[in-house]
Amino acid sequence: MGAPTRSSRIRVTSTNESLLQASSLGFSGVRTATARLEYRRTLPADASVVVDVIVGSTRPGRHGEAVARWVLEQASTRSDVKFELVDLLDHPLPHLDEPLPASAGQYAGEHTRRWSETIDRFDGYVFVTPEYNNATSGALKNAIDYLYREWNNKAAGFVGYGVVGAARAVEHLRLIAAELQLATVRGQVALSFYTDFENSTVLRPEPRQIDALGELLDQVVAWSNALAVVRQG
Ligand SMILES: Cc1cc2nc3c(=O)[nH]c(=O)nc-3n(C[C@H](O)[C@H](O)[C@H](O)COP(=O)(O)O)c2cc1C
Repeated sequence: MGAPTRSSRIRVTSTNESLLQASSLGFSGVRTATARLEYRRTLPADASVVVDVIVGSTRPGRHGEAVARWVLEQASTRSDVKFELVDLLDHPLPHLDEPLPASAGQYAGEHTRRWSETIDRFDGYVFVTPEYNNATSGALKNAIDYLYREWNNKAAGFVGYGVVGAARAVEHLRLIAAELQLATVRGQVALSFYTDFENSTVLRPEPRQIDALGELLDQVVAWSNALAVVRQG
């Protein structure tokens, strides 16, 4: 059995008090405000969201792992959130081999069930993506396609790297995320081999990239918290 899921740690209840406060916002605001108020009330004091940093490349000699470790290092100074690394190399998935679409949630393969358990327990994701021929990697796209509900109503941010920052790969991922009901934040990191890698090989991000990453993480954490409430229904 995997670690406790976020949903098992958060209890959302309705009370007359919160409904009364929320009702002052008008009909459309009631549900949102109620959820927000109750969320604050029922979160344990030591609760924090858990965000996954996904290494999106698998090839020998990849730069993806160094980029993901830099993200984790920068994120480790935060007390409001726990970050964990998930490496696609630890989850070898064949080209999608499930007979049913992921939205059916019935997985035939043990590799799929294991991947599902891994992804399901996170509240948000930071995708570390290379750019291969103007898109993300085939390995990452394949891994995403294996699942559906596990991605729903969660937050995602993107750290791209490549010759020109992998902006096209990230745009593709934003389209994919829309179909998965995965909310993508505006903040983005675009690491370029021209400016953020010494001799195009060793990662040395410019100082402005640290600010960009901080902004991205702020947004992912905020939306991860907010969407944990949405997942309570
Ligand atoms: C098959 C392939 C296609 C690539 N296409 C692009 C590209 O379209 N744009 C770009 O900026 N870099 C491109 N690159 C360079 C990669 O972004 C760069 O090699 C990066 O380090 C790949 O990530 P990885 O090292 O984690 O595999 C390509 C590299 C490969 C191997």
